[in-house]
Amino acid sequence: MGCCLSIQIKADESPVHHSGGGNDRAQSERLNLRSEGEILQSSNLKNFSYSDLNQATRNFRPDSVLGEGGFGCVYKGWIDEHTLAPAKPRSGMVIAVKRLNHEGFQGHKEWVTEINYLGQLRHPNLVNLIGYCIEDEHRLLVYEFMPRGSLENHLFRRSSYVEPLSWNLRMKIVLGAAKGLAFLHSPKIKVIYRDYKPSNILLDSDFDAKLSDFGLAKDGPCDDQGYVSTRVMGTQGYAAPEYVATGHLTPKNDIYSFGVVLLEVLTGRRVLDENRAVKERDLIKWAMPYLRKEKVSRIMDTRIQGQYSSRSAKTIGNLVIQCLSVDPRFRPNMVEVVSTLEQLQDCKPKGGDLYPAVPRDLYPVNTEVKQSFNPQNQGPKNRRRSNIANEICKGGIVISPDTTSSIPPVLS
Ligand SMILES: Nc1ncnc2c1ncn2[C@@H]1O[C@H](COP(=O)(O)OP(=O)(O)OP(=O)(O)O)[C@@H](O)[C@H]1O
Ligand SMILES: [Mg+2]
Repeated sequence: MGCCLSIQIKADESPVHHSGGGNDRAQSERLNLRSEGEILQSSNLKNFSYSDLNQATRNFRPDSVLGEGGFGCVYKGWIDEHTLAPAKPRSGMVIAVKRLNHEGFQGHKEWVTEINYLGQLRHPNLVNLIGYCIEDEHRLLVYEFMPRGSLENHLFRRSSYVEPLSWNLRMKIVLGAAKGLAFLHSPKIKVIYRDYKPSNILLDSDFDAKLSDFGLAKDGPCDDQGYVSTRVMGTQGYAAPEYVATGHLTPKNDIYSFGVVLLEVLTGRRVLDENRAVKERDLIKWAMPYLRKEKVSRIMDTRIQGQYSSRSAKTIGNLVIQCLSVDPRFRPNMVEVVSTLEQLQDCKPKGGDLYPAVPRDLYPVNTEVKQSFNPQNQGPKNRRRSNIANEICKGGIVISPDTTSSIPPVLS
């Protein structure tokens, strides 16, 4: 649940819709104006006790940590698939349990928002929220387990453990994630996701992508011209510039973020990367001149050389340019994006399996995550929290650095 970028502008955090017309308030009432009690009662989610989740995760054992974000740690656990009671390891159904860390900078409000949205929305490209726990100060969320972890792990962790994603798998993943966003933006749902980034794109065993983390989601405006005034939240590098500047949120913010991730997928580089040469630290600034001159081959991830046609690469390059248009009106909508990506799905893989074998124990806890539990070692996300205290101030705007880009490559 990301809020690495937290820009405090004096804007209304409630979902005020500004638009040229339209009066569709039902949706915002459905999703935003309900009290917490109502949300929890009316959801079809299981209300787990803390002791059940403690048992399911074997006392939140450090070696069952799947990852750590701003909300807290995510643990692997087991429950009975029928009764949802805690089960023995490797029996029943695998779950991912996210536990709010009270020292973290995200909290109860996002926990409620996650339940409010993900508890009601069902789609093959959205991760399934199974339940929650609210007991004393404990706040937890229970999800279906996604065996391949996040797109972030596959794209950016250089290790012998994680094989580089092939071109075909990259295209499959971006299409799945695009379908998830298209569903959110559809007229009957009208939700702005606000946190589209590789760590929130989770992968099942077939590399089908599912969006997770709805802690920042908002009801969209009632018509195409409208916007929602919000406190600016998101992750630096992924939020659209006009949103960062004004706090005016429209679905085009998600399209911009989609373009950023598409560029990361093409290049295998993070949007912001302090470890690169100065001219290459800002991926968009570095890559756009090549894309505009149709020299996409100069920026492609060298690990997928020979796996794609130049026509496909150009098509994706052009889509990136459109999604990153400075003027949001020139960005495509998600229906158009899905249609473009669907046309690129039919290329046959050049040799090798389409799906690399799932690693031992289906996405086991990795060495990097374990390291963050070593008191000798300040883990990546712990550094994130200390970064928050060192926010960059620009004219009343406070930007917390994108800490995901500071994660070092995993040790092999
Ligand atoms: N349902 C799940 N199945 C398997 N792994 C998961 C699941 N949910 C989260 N993870 C793992 O835990 C990691 C941390 O997830 P989390 O959503 O808390 O933070 P994040 O997305 O990495 O960062 P941020 O807080 O900035 O959004 C993910 O990157 C992923 O590797
Ligand atoms: Mg996440």
